[in-house]
Amino acid sequence: MEDIGKKDNGIDISALEQSHQNSEILNIPQLQIRPGETICLQGENGSGKTSLLRVMAGLGKNCKGSVSVLGQNLASIKYQELERLRADYIGFVFQYYRLVPYLSAFDNIMLPCHFSARRRREAIGRAAAKHIDVPSVGQRKDSAIMQKVSEDAFRLIRKLSLKDPSRLSKNASDYSAGQQQRFAIARALIGNPRLVLVDEPASAMDTKGKRAVYELILNECRETGATLVCTTHDDMSDMGFDRYLDMGELNLAKEPEIR
Ligand SMILES: Nc1ncnc2c1ncn2[C@@H]1O[C@H](COP(=O)(O)OP(=O)(O)OP(=O)(O)O)[C@@H](O)[C@H]1O
Ligand SMILES: [Mg+2]
Repeated sequence: MEDIGKKDNGIDISALEQSHQNSEILNIPQLQIRPGETICLQGENGSGKTSLLRVMAGLGKNCKGSVSVLGQNLASIKYQELERLRADYIGFVFQYYRLVPYLSAFDNIMLPCHFSARRRREAIGRAAAKHIDVPSVGQRKDSAIMQKVSEDAFRLIRKLSLKDPSRLSKNASDYSAGQQQRFAIARALIGNPRLVLVDEPASAMDTKGKRAVYELILNECRETGATLVCTTHDDMSDMGFDRYLDMGELNLAKEPEIR
């Protein structure tokens, strides 16, 4: 398990097919993404963007073909190794955020660093490079390590324009949709994942916030060399992604349902 995720070859997909109850969802003959490449994935509703991101994260069901992520063939990887790959190396912003509703906003952001020693180390290394003042969050009694990790959480929180980081102690579900989406982005980025998969990360943002959020995600991935796949319905043609992919061209699935 030592080598999981260390041989970063980006993403290599061939002859991917996914179906659900006789309905073809994905049919992608070839897709290669280089390590560190930033991809903007666009396409109409139902074109398979979310399904493809889930496959890249090893969450796809009923798949045929070959999918290699960060040097690991997902068809042959053991379940525990896949869990480790995901925890250590993959950050995912789900279309509907999927925060843990009964944990505070702050604890949601810190979550990956509870599951992964690698992400803790990376977050601490990042925080050490830039000195950050850590405000107190409620009556938390963090270990010294998690206190260090929290410095990187606060760096991201500030970049996401959450103006008063000390107030992140309410349950995640008690914030607005746009705020929850910002927490989901911080949770995906903390601890330098090698692969960042983001599914419409600004869908709940106000107009001004949208561009800032895409810029932050792109900058974070460029600084760390992470591979980024970002779906969006927004016009991001001038944002400077390395490559723009159209799901309508990429996915040959014949979807009988209304799109
Ligand atoms: N759990 C599921 N069970 C059955 N079919 C599904 C499931 N999830 C998605 N699909 C089907 O797969 C197709 C692709 O859906 P997907 O969510 O990947 O599209 P999308 O491009 O992300 O759309 P949107 O822009 O609305 O988010 C749709 O036609 C949908 O009906
Ligand atoms: Mg979607």
